[in-house]
Amino acid sequence: MRLLALQVQDFRNLPQVQLSPSPHATIAVGQNGQGKTNLLEALYFLATLKPLRAGRLSELVRWGSQGARVTGRFLLKGAEREISVEVGGGTRQAFVDGKKASSLEEYFGGVSVVAFTPDDLEVVKGGPDARRAFLDRAVFNRFPAFLRESREYARALKNRNRLLRDGHSVEAAYLEAYDETLAKAGARIYARRRALMAELAPRAQATFASIGRTVDPAMYGYHPAHLGGDFPTADEAALAVALRESLNERLRRDLDRGFTSVGPHSDDVSVTLGGRSARAYASQGQQRALVLGWKIAEIENLEAAMGFLPLLLLDDVSSELDPERNAYLMNYLAKSGAQVFLTTTDGSLVRAAAAEDTLWLSVHGGQVAVRDTAEPPAG
Ligand SMILES: Nc1ncnc2c1ncn2[C@@H]1O[C@H](COP(=O)(O)OP(=O)(O)O)[C@@H](O)[C@H]1O
Ligand SMILES: [Mg+2]
Repeated sequence: MRLLALQVQDFRNLPQVQLSPSPHATIAVGQNGQGKTNLLEALYFLATLKPLRAGRLSELVRWGSQGARVTGRFLLKGAEREISVEVGGGTRQAFVDGKKASSLEEYFGGVSVVAFTPDDLEVVKGGPDARRAFLDRAVFNRFPAFLRESREYARALKNRNRLLRDGHSVEAAYLEAYDETLAKAGARIYARRRALMAELAPRAQATFASIGRTVDPAMYGYHPAHLGGDFPTADEAALAVALRESLNERLRRDLDRGFTSVGPHSDDVSVTLGGRSARAYASQGQQRALVLGWKIAEIENLEAAMGFLPLLLLDDVSSELDPERNAYLMNYLAKSGAQVFLTTTDGSLVRAAAAEDTLWLSVHGGQVAVRDTAEPPAG
């Protein structure tokens, strides 16, 4: 997979960007607040239809404009394909080769991107919501159908919660019909998350071992809310039955509280070092190395699963890592041959990821300019 051309219109503070990225590294340099993250977000949004930072779709549209548009021309399995997304009036519309996309699967069609931003530290430091969101980004990358599936679950959950709020007057048979749907959709979410973690955790643990500078092993775990960590099966039908039972068991309590207290919306992810919570005990540097271990594992896992590397977006990561781990990451990028977009306030931090064919960009006040030099621009 390769991004051949990118066009951005009225996305955040970027009025108009048009560029042909390098097959390897494209590096955007600029001071804070100029639009570097916005440029990566445009790409991330194009490839996932989700904003990089949580928030409403309308935030993506440049102030004073009616709508935003991002278009990318990709080379996928030897064929060129243009995808494009428009945001306006609080909704978004996806296009494939100029026509409205008939389904999300058609739209994604093999386009895959892994983003790495300072916010990713949330998987270690943040609360359960942030950890789940982090996990789900990785699940979506691996299984694009997950976007539709998680929406189905969210819809079923919302409906059930509405019924619960109506209280005890609700017909039991009515609620049961919802539980059936919810259990099925929920089991799919569990199965996807489990499958991803089964692939990812061993790789992440191995990567961490080479960058962690500690003998303590890292462990990355997924904990379904009601099943117990050692629930013996990944069989989806069995998961649905288990979830259905849990929903039944908690029905009385859920009716009192007016919401569904069990299901994949309350699962958790754990990251531990030497058996202890990384959030509570790991140093800043170790926490960052734990995230780096996960991200590199995610990239390698996607490559193993799909046969090609995803597009990589690294937002200001080098300033967060100590020099040794930053060097490890830059060398990894150069060696992997991946197509990567990096942003930085200081070009010298990412020099090791650059080569002859690197495209250097400078970003200033929402204007993205190509620099016809192989040297990193200053600051
Ligand atoms: N919808 C929007 N319209 C116009 N400007 C925006 C919008 N959203 C964010 N911005 C502006 O974008 C700038 C931040 O850009 P960002 O890409 O985060 O900077 P950085 O170069 O530090 O990564 C801020 O000045 C912010 O006000
Ligand atoms: Mg930024």
